[in-house]
Amino acid sequence: MRILGIETSCDETAAAIVERDSHSRIKLLSNVISTSMGLHAKTGGIIPEQAARQQIKYMLPVINQAFSDAHIQPETIDAIAVTYGPGLIGSLLVGVETAKTLAYCWKKPLIPVNHLIGHIYANFIHGHDIPFPALALIVSGGHTDLVVLKDHGKLDWIGGTRDDAAGEAFDKIGRLMRLRYPAGPLIERLAKKGDPKMFPFPRPMIGSGDFDFSFSGLKTAVFNEIKMMKQLDSKTMANLSASVQQAIIDVLIKKTLKAVKKYNVKSILLGGGVAANQKFRDELALNTKYLIPNTEIFVPQKSLCTDNAAMIAASAFFNNKEVDWRKITANPELYFD
Ligand code: KG4
Ligand code: ZN
Repeated sequence: MRILGIETSCDETAAAIVERDSHSRIKLLSNVISTSMGLHAKTGGIIPEQAARQQIKYMLPVINQAFSDAHIQPETIDAIAVTYGPGLIGSLLVGVETAKTLAYCWKKPLIPVNHLIGHIYANFIHGHDIPFPALALIVSGGHTDLVVLKDHGKLDWIGGTRDDAAGEAFDKIGRLMRLRYPAGPLIERLAKKGDPKMFPFPRPMIGSGDFDFSFSGLKTAVFNEIKMMKQLDSKTMANLSASVQQAIIDVLIKKTLKAVKKYNVKSILLGGGVAANQKFRDELALNTKYLIPNTEIFVPQKSLCTDNAAMIAASAFFNNKEVDWRKITANPELYFD
């Protein structure tokens, strides 16, 4: 079975062709991503109107490229999967309306996919056999959520951020440090030469009894620190980066491991752009090995952590709920049911 995935929830325009073989292994035939990041780097963040205009331009060429890379014709796909939320309304509309048109013209079933669940299913690409129940931590630019997966389609949301998401914290703090958007990867790079103990930034809500997160206090603490500095030399930038990264990682790991114990899960699944952070991946693996050794950790390859259409198609294989194209509408506020 083959699915064309389409993803346009934020600043990426993405299409992928994904195949499931007779052993239920998910294989990528193509995975095309066009980003308007260059535009947003200049403005220090995403301007939704500009993102949607770029997506209108890129959508059809990206889909054509996906078919050309996969060396197949549209007749040979079995379904189309599209992100219908959450995200920016203008951006979502580009993908959803394109998918509806193609489903109608090509007479193919259409499967609407929740972007957040898509991030979880990036873990199922390349044939991983994941034991349930699993705990998923989604850490992206827009979301920080902990979800227990009892089985495919059976999700329990147990906590999330009350203000900024983890990726948003990296990006906003990066802006205070005069870094380009998105700042997460830059902070990770700078942090390699810095001391994570140099600035004792707060670990917001680390000891709270629930599974919620809050990162806006960390942003304020960094703001106050930078305000007192005469200049941001390269050593200070490295130390700030290492200290900020450590504060975010510490909270994510503490809450994740607490949830693993409470819900007695067999595996941890990471998803979202922040899951591409190598220090986070390494520290989570190390802590899990020592504290909860029987828990398996699954992490998508880095290019599948950030937004892509392959994860949307992969999710559709396991949650195959075809919906009449007339009934599908973009839903920017979509969350977990
Ligand atoms: O999942 P994603 O591509 O988009 C959303 O759904 O939001 O995540 C983008 C976010 C950005 O905030 C970016 O700064 C962050 O992921 N990010 C990282 C890294 N790579 C991307 N944060 C920390 N370390 C990284 N290596
Ligand atoms: Zn995302």
